[in-house]
Amino acid sequence: MFKDLNNKTVIITGGNGFLGIQFVNEFLENNANVIVLDLKKRKFYHPRFTQYMCDITKENSVRLVVKKIVKKFNKINILINNAAIDHLPKKNKKKLNNFEEFDLLRWKKELDVGLSGAMICTKYFGKKMCDQNKGGVILNVSSDLGIIAPNQNLYQKLNFAKPVTYSVIKHGIIGLTKYTASYWGNKRIRCNAIAPGGINQNFDKHFVEKIKKLIPLNRMAKYNEYNKIVLFLCSDQSSYMTGTTIIADGGRTVI
Ligand SMILES: NC(=O)c1ccc[n+]([C@@H]2O[C@H](COP(=O)([O-])OP(=O)(O)OC[C@H]3O[C@@H](n4cnc5c(N)ncnc54)[C@H](O)[C@@H]3O)[C@@H](O)[C@H]2O)c1
Repeated sequence: MFKDLNNKTVIITGGNGFLGIQFVNEFLENNANVIVLDLKKRKFYHPRFTQYMCDITKENSVRLVVKKIVKKFNKINILINNAAIDHLPKKNKKKLNNFEEFDLLRWKKELDVGLSGAMICTKYFGKKMCDQNKGGVILNVSSDLGIIAPNQNLYQKLNFAKPVTYSVIKHGIIGLTKYTASYWGNKRIRCNAIAPGGINQNFDKHFVEKIKKLIPLNRMAKYNEYNKIVLFLCSDQSSYMTGTTIIADGGRTVI
């Protein structure tokens, strides 16, 4: 248990997605009030769970939702910038995500969610934390591919390429983390990032065998292996950590 999370107000963007649901459950178990901002709705009820359909790329929508949350909960303690458009490695007929043909509109759309969305939420929720004058925590979700470039050999047989947007967003998220930590350190707002490695979501066996060889622990992550790191970075137990990134990737980025 992370006792200091009791009664904290936690905002999780993209909290109705694969990893987001994990994080929501962990905070609920630690008696926090959890508010999800997402485009898709989840059929789920818990007295301390609230969800708002909110497109984080729309500045006005975020501004309005911050108002609603403050009215209802009186305070904001923790923001997790987790939403992103992800691309999972799957077999394709035509080569997917080639850099040579990468569409500029798609580039803009994906950066809009993964980077601008995180910036907008940080701006509005962070400002509220500053106004409250009680500090706060921001956690950004990056990736092992925010540390290293994707190894495109892994995807060759799938006719797939990991898109350039993913690399740029996940590296950029670490930049946003350092900037925020430095900018609002004097307001006692801590900002850190987590860089998780891939979780096997029923991926092609050949792909999994190939990627395992690049990971010292010789396996992909289990779906629940990031939960306690997220709680730790959001709790007072990491009170002297800011601007840093915890890499949890089975060792992939050290070799
Ligand atoms: N799953 C993995 O193996 C893995 C590994 C490393 C990093 N990550 C990162 O973890 C985070 C969560 O990943 P996931 O696997 O749960 O992805 P996911 O696609 O399951 O969830 C993302 C969520 O974001 C929401 N979203 C998308 N655009 C939005 C918008 N404009 N406004 C509000 N919400 C929006 C989606 O509706 C979805 O619920 C992402 O940042 C991802 O890059 C995931």
